[in-house]
Parts: sequence; C-alpha cells; structure tokens
Amino acid sequence: MADSSWPRVDAIAYGGDYNPEQWPREVWLEDVALMREAGVNLVSVGIFSWAMLEPREGEYDFAWLDDIISLLHDNGISVDLGTPSVSPPAWFFHTYPEARVTDARGTVMGFGSRGMASHAAPEYREAVARMAGALAERYGDHPAVVLWHIHNEYGVPVAEDFGPRAVASWQRWLKERYVDLDGLNAAWGTAFWGQRYGEWEHVVAPAATPTIANPAMKLDWARFTDDQLRECFLIEKDAIREHASQPVTTNFMAHQSWNVDLWKWAELVDVVSDDHYLWSPDPDAHVLLSLAADLTRSVAGGKPWMLMEHSTSAVNWQGRNIAKRPGEMRRNSLAHLGRGADAIMFFQWRASRSGAEKFHSAMLPHAGTDSRLWREVVELGDDLKKVASVKGSLVEADVAVLYDWESMWAHELEWRPSDDLQFRERIRAHYERLWRDNVTVDFAHPSHDLSRYKLVVAPSSYLMTAESAANLTRYVEGGGVLLVDAFAAAVDEHDAVHPGGFMAPLKDALGVTCDEYLPLREGGSAAVVMDDGTELRFTAWAEDLKLSGAEVVATYAGGPADGAPAITRNARGEGHAWYLSAMLSTEALASVYERVYADAWVEPAGLPEGVEVVTRRGDEEDFVVVLNHGDHEVRLPMAGTDMLTGGVPVSEVTVAGGGAAVVRVPLTGQGGEA
Ligand code: GLA
Repeated sequence: MADSSWPRVDAIAYGGDYNPEQWPREVWLEDVALMREAGVNLVSVGIFSWAMLEPREGEYDFAWLDDIISLLHDNGISVDLGTPSVSPPAWFFHTYPEARVTDARGTVMGFGSRGMASHAAPEYREAVARMAGALAERYGDHPAVVLWHIHNEYGVPVAEDFGPRAVASWQRWLKERYVDLDGLNAAWGTAFWGQRYGEWEHVVAPAATPTIANPAMKLDWARFTDDQLRECFLIEKDAIREHASQPVTTNFMAHQSWNVDLWKWAELVDVVSDDHYLWSPDPDAHVLLSLAADLTRSVAGGKPWMLMEHSTSAVNWQGRNIAKRPGEMRRNSLAHLGRGADAIMFFQWRASRSGAEKFHSAMLPHAGTDSRLWREVVELGDDLKKVASVKGSLVEADVAVLYDWESMWAHELEWRPSDDLQFRERIRAHYERLWRDNVTVDFAHPSHDLSRYKLVVAPSSYLMTAESAANLTRYVEGGGVLLVDAFAAAVDEHDAVHPGGFMAPLKDALGVTCDEYLPLREGGSAAVVMDDGTELRFTAWAEDLKLSGAEVVATYAGGPADGAPAITRNARGEGHAWYLSAMLSTEALASVYERVYADAWVEPAGLPEGVEVVTRRGDEEDFVVVLNHGDHEVRLPMAGTDMLTGGVPVSEVTVAGGGAAVVRVPLTGQGGEA
C-alpha cells in the first residue's frame, strides 16, 4: 500500500471527474481509448455513486466499480476514488427522514438534487462511515487507486442545519467551549437586548429571528458548523484508514469556501486539492484564478497541490455562461501550475447527456473529438508532458496577504457601518494591485510566523484577536513592513469591540487608532492627497483617526474627514507600519504601494499590461511561467529553454497574444538544455 502524501502518479496528474455510471459499457471502452489519446493519467470516480454502490440498504454492488477500475488500470490510468457521501440515495432519506437538512426558516430539504444530509444525524454519520470503510476494504490494496477523495466540496450547496438534532449538537458544542453559562453569557454579551440564558436548553440556533440575531452567537454558529463538517470528514477518513493508506484529500474551493476555514481543514488532508471556476461577469477573472491558486498553495503550507476541478470552457450555473476563448483553458491550466499545482484536472471527463449539468463543458464535449475543445484537451495533455520536470518545484514569495475565515464570517454579519466595505472585495483589491505589479504573494493567517516576509498586507482584518495583534506588532518590531487597510482590529474573537476602542490592540504598531467610522453615502467619493501632492479618489469609507506617533502620509480632501489624516506610517522597532483608512481602488492603491514597496525593498517587475509571470523554483533551475492575457505578442528577455516549444534555448521569450510559455532557467543564470 502507498504511504506517501502525494498520489502515486509519475507525472503532472491530468484528467478529471469520471462518471462512467452515466454511460453504457461500450462507451467505457471509447472513454479509456480517448483518455490515452489525451494523455489522461488520473480520474476521479465514484463521487456521486452511492445509489449504484448500495442500491438498497446494506446491499452493496461493487461489480461495476471493480470493472471500471480494472479497465482504467489496464490502460495505465490511475484512480482518485471518491466516497459518495455528498449524495445519499433516495432510500436513505425515505428510511431516515430525520436525516434531512432543515434551513433557517424551518423548511426541510427534499430529495432530488444533491447536497449533504444533516451533519448531526447519527444515521448519516454511521452510513458514511460504513460506505467509506467498505470502499477502503475493497480498494485499499488496489494498485490503480492512488488517492481517496472524501465527499465533494464541503459546505456547498448546504452547510448549516437548523434541525432539532443539530441544535442538540450545538448545545453540546457550546458546553464544551464555555463550560458554564456565565462564560457563554459574557462572551456573547447577552446583557444586551435581555438575552441572558439561565439553562443550556434555552440556547437555540440563530435561525429566523424578528430582527438581527446576536452577532457573537452567529459567529460561534459559523465555527460550530465548520467543526461539524470537519467531524464528518474525519469519520470518513478514520474509516478509510482502518483499511487503506493511500493519501486522502477533499476538494476545497479556496476564496469561494464560505463555510469552511481552510487553515484548519488543510491540516487534516494528506494533499490539498482545490476546485476553481472562472466568474464570467469578470473580464479579468484570471486575477481571481491566481488569487485562488495562491490561497490554495498557502493553506497547503507551500507544498504542491492538486487542481481537482476546473472547466475546459463554459460552466452551466452562472447567469451567462461564457465559453472560454481559444487558448484560455491552456492559460488557466498553466496559471494554476505556475502557482504550485502539480495536477490539472477538470469537471468532467465526458459531457453528461442528462441531468442538471448537461450544458457544462467537459474534456470530451457533446460535439465529440472533431471539435476545437477536444483538440485543445489533447494539446494540453501534451504540454503537461513537456513540463513534467516542474513537478515538485516550489513557489517563493516575499509578500504575504493576511486571510482569516473567522474575520470574514464576523465581517459579513449584519449591521456593519457600511455595506460597501466587504471582506472579499478588499482582499481582491489588494491582491490585484500586487498581481498587476507582478509581485508573487503567499496568504497567511494573522497568527502565523511572518518573519520571513518583507511585506505583510492586512486588507480586511475586522476581527483581530489581541494575540494576533501582538504577533503583527512583533513582526514590525523585528523589521517587517506592515500595511493595514481600513476597518481593522475593530473586534475580538467574540465580535466585541476591543477595550480602548477600534484598533486599540494595533496602536503600538500603527501609532494611530480610529475614533469613528465615517462611511460615505451610496455612490459618494472624495479624495486623499499624498504628501507629494498626488491626489487619489476614494469611495465608500473614511475614518476619523487619532494619531499616537505615526506620521501623516496623506490627508483627506473633501468628504466627512476633510483635512484630517487618511494614510499614516509609523516607525516601530526595526520596521514600519502603514495604515490606510480610506477605501481605495486597485488603481488608486498604486501610489500607496509604490511607497510601501520602497520601505519593504520589494521590487515589482515592470511587465507589459496583461502579462503574468510566476516562477517555480526547482533544485537546479527556475521554471518561469509566462502568460499573455492580452491580444498582442510580447517579448521578454529571459535566458533559458522554452519547454513548450521543444526545449529550444532562448535569450528572449516570445509569447503570442493569448499564449503561454514555460521557460527553464538554470539557477546558474545561463540557458541550457531542457
Ligand atoms: C462543482 C462540483 C462538480 C460540478 C461543478 C460544476 O465544482 O464539485 O460536481 O458540479 O461544480 O462546475
């Protein structure tokens, strides 16, 4: 049995979700032949197969799965074996109606779609353990099975359950956390609005309430829900581990993972995997792709990760499902590779004729092999063979962006000073600034050791514990440069305002605190003027700052804080901490970052507009991935070998509009053979 943390595939893994149960057996033969033609070496099987594997309770049918796994194995294709816990069969819900999920309004979810049963239902927990155990017992030693894929995208389509059993689990969870009700009453501030609890059984779920529910309660509810999902994952993982030792994963959704704190989840999987789909309304969706890839690599602790799903072309679940342009799938795939993915996989292998996802693109489209999409799929398989030596190399970053799911959960609760300042928007604005300046970043949690970074950016840290604030202060004192964006460190882990007021725990680092938030009316804007005279427009948000040692770098001109400090810089220990109290766009942030880069000795690479360059470092060489998202050819000086065009030595890399290159640059700095 395998025991490494990476699935045993001697190449960049290439393939996708494979649902053979949707097709007659003669199609399977065509499938494997075409998989070979495309260079597919790994497929995910069984993710939605529970009804086929256990047609009646306790009656298993593994024969078809045996056959398809053997067929794949005979053709040199490895298997990422799914546990089907995201889609219990109709009989399960018929027999155990209490295992259905109840939403906040008390509606019980019906069968006929997909999504998890109640995470609190003992019948569900027992059934998934049995199924995962049975699969592991049967396939734990199978040479084709190189990875376990537990569940599918925890947290969607449904995470929260407000049914009576979930509420009972919630009360148990709270008892463990707070021990006695005095602790809970204090943490939640229940003196407000007369919410004090005298009995544990009186603590209900934050379901439908006449006006907003206690925010500290909702924040704990988010933590509880995440914990419950992790418990369900571990039930399956433990069941697998009784019989099998292949690595285990579950597919994350990086920046789209609303309900699951990936810092915690990543510790439980052997290999991190992620699903990513472009958001069609966004013409620069490739920026969010890079963000998701960097976030995934970061939760993986910098190690290579698997792109478990993306699409060859359009998806089917957005308002307008935009097909990818020629070359776009290749660029997307190489962007993930450049940011650390050693597996490039898709949803799904063959387009489904029936069901909810028939308009979703696939590796093998409805149009068959005489199609542009198929030709691009075959070419991509070929490209990935050419860049196989990239496997195992690492991405290095000098800059970290802080990302904390708990802060997001708290920030996104109701009744904030303004709806216009949002967690994800702020993360994106700062990330995009760094992306446009071609500065490679890691993401980090505010409690992490940050000392190896030259610059740390905190775009959205509404919730910050005193411990994390102390960690950031130490980072600055030790010589780091910190850039903190607006609405920072307002509350602690219970969504309670810090003693001493907004930003009090960061006062030493920043040399400034905030007396009052001054949001703008909808559509409003004003300016801040930098000390060199540069005027930057801002929208939505300003603050009334109180200086306690910081120098003023920019002053408000107009708006509710007219004439008062807007951007500050504070010397502390060996480092500097910046505070940015106005909401600036990616464009406006450029002038601020210019100054911050200078403080941090970060040198942005001057690249033509729309060109993305990211480097993976191997033992003896750099692999430089160049992506041209623009329409015109670009040339970049670079001495190495162009791996996609047959290892030709180059002193300059030429990339056509919409094209990509991977250049191997020996660490000696001279070009050589690929
Ligand atoms: C998700 C799911 C897949 C499929 C795709 C479609 O990522 O994991 O099963 O539904 O979306 O984009």
